[in-house]
Parts: sequence; structure tokens; C-alpha cells
Amino acid sequence: MGKKVTVVGAGFYGSTTAQRLAEYDVFGTVVITDIVEGKPAGLALDLNQSRAIEGFETKLVGVTTGPNGEGYEAIEGSDVVVVTAGLPRKPGMSRMDLLETNAKIVRQVAENVAKYAPNAVVIVVSNPLDEMTALAQIATQFPHNRVLGQAGMLDTARFTNFVAEALDVPVASVRTLTLGSHGDTMVPVPSKSSVAGKPLREAMPAEQIEELVVKTRNGGAEVVALLKTGSAYYAPSAAAARMAKAVAEDSGEVLPVCAWVDGEYGISGVYLGVEAEIGAQGIRRVVETDLDADELAALKEAAEAVRAKQSDVASM
Ligand code: LAC
Repeated sequence: MGKKVTVVGAGFYGSTTAQRLAEYDVFGTVVITDIVEGKPAGLALDLNQSRAIEGFETKLVGVTTGPNGEGYEAIEGSDVVVVTAGLPRKPGMSRMDLLETNAKIVRQVAENVAKYAPNAVVIVVSNPLDEMTALAQIATQFPHNRVLGQAGMLDTARFTNFVAEALDVPVASVRTLTLGSHGDTMVPVPSKSSVAGKPLREAMPAEQIEELVVKTRNGGAEVVALLKTGSAYYAPSAAAARMAKAVAEDSGEVLPVCAWVDGEYGISGVYLGVEAEIGAQGIRRVVETDLDADELAALKEAAEAVRAKQSDVASM
């Protein structure tokens, strides 16, 4: 049979995530759902027709869902559900501007996921990310470990790419880390970043690191400004698909994700970008790493900023 993964939302983020998941060829089934009539079925048909060329056996199924949960039977038995539903940003918008609109959408999706795929691990990518992840946990009532968000992998990938470009070195020789929120309080961690094994702080001057940190924080907005309609999806879908694969394979990989923090770093009761060990049940454990005093202070500040917003979503 193989594992079953569902991607809710057949926009660019959802469809590229489904494509990546299918091309891994490790799942039995990839289900794509959307509220647009015909779109998920069309994408599934098209992707299935690429199987012979790309050489994967995973089957794609596309289903249109209705406001009262019609169509959700298709997600039954999913091991993982990636929630991409919601609106993307338009140029000039912050992720937080999407809060109320996307809260309604994510709540409805999460309630149906809880009903039809009660054992799934839920990976949220809808924005504002940290708040939508918190809301999905509240709406599903799943244990916190089974609801996580995608952001840290994307922000880390952006930071890594910018460092590699700036130094003209292979991207594979660069390690970076970002923690905190997927927003203004993103916390890049230069003390855990390196280039070919050499600390990043020795590889480039502090001002240049700060420049790339700002570029990373604005990485999504820069893409939105250029695309004009919609937001980034190639790098975001790469990150979400890798997380879903880590869950399906019970891999134990340590990845930067948005996870429920319960005492780590002296922070409790909030969804926050941290490193975590990923397994079949979602978060096996949050991995605490040694941070510099200023990095830790920034992480605590990020936690308080998202805590305030996350308490608002309970009533949305
Ligand atoms: C980004 C959006 C997807 O950062 O949050 O590109």
C-alpha cells in the first residue's frame, strides 16, 4: 500500500509540494484537495501522466472539497497532511495581514482533517505561519507533537543560499540556522553557521552577515514583489515536502521547524521556530542548541511576539 500523504490546497505551493512528494517515489498515494472544482483532479491526472517519464509509482488523486466537508473522505488514512490552504501575500502585504482571512480557512480545514484523518501528522504552511500552526492544533485538538509548521527550513535555505552566493562557494559547503518566527522576529543564528567548516563570523565581516540576515528576513517579500500575484513556492514546497518525507520515513532527522516549545530555552507554551527531531509522530523532541546570549535574547523576544498573536487565534 505504501504511505499516504494529503496536500490541502492546489495553488502553486500545494501543487509543487504534491509534485515533489510524488517524485520522491516513497509514498503509495498523494492526495491533492482544493475547493476549486476540477483543479485538483486535473493536476492529479497531469502528474500521473508524468509517471512513466519521471519513473515514479506513487499515484496521485485529486479531489474537490465542499464547505461542509464534502470530498474529505479521500484523505482517510493519511499519515501526513500538508495544509497549504489560504491566501498568499500580495506586494506590500505582511504575512500578518492574512491573519483573519486565513484563520477561517485553516480552522475549517483543520476540523475536517481531525474528522477524516485523526491519526495524521499535520504540517502547516499557511501564513502567518506561527499563528496558523497554533490554530491548527487548537482546531484539530491533536497532541502538540502531531502539529508542526514549515518555516525554519525555508528561512535557513534562503540564508544558506545568500551566503553561498555572496562568497561564491558551493551551497553544499554552507551551513546556517534560523530560529524564532517566520516573520519580523526571525532569528538567524550566526554562531551555528559555517562555511566549509569555518565559522561564518570568520568567513565574512559582521556587516555583511547582517546584510544577508536582512535579505533572508525579506526573502519571501522580495519574491512576492517580483511575482506580483502570489508568493514563493519552489523553495517553500521543497521544505514542506522534505518535512513530510521525514515524517513518513520516521527518519529522526533534526530540522528547523515550527514546533510547540515546552520548557526548552526557558520558553513554554508557544509555537516557535526551533530545531526538532522528526519522526512518524511528528516532533519526537525539540533539540536545544547552545546559543550566544544575544541570540537567546532574540529567541525569547520572538517567543513573546508570537505568543501574543497566537492567543488571539483561539477565538478565530
Ligand atoms: C515565504 C512565504 C511562503 O516566505 O511565507 O515565501
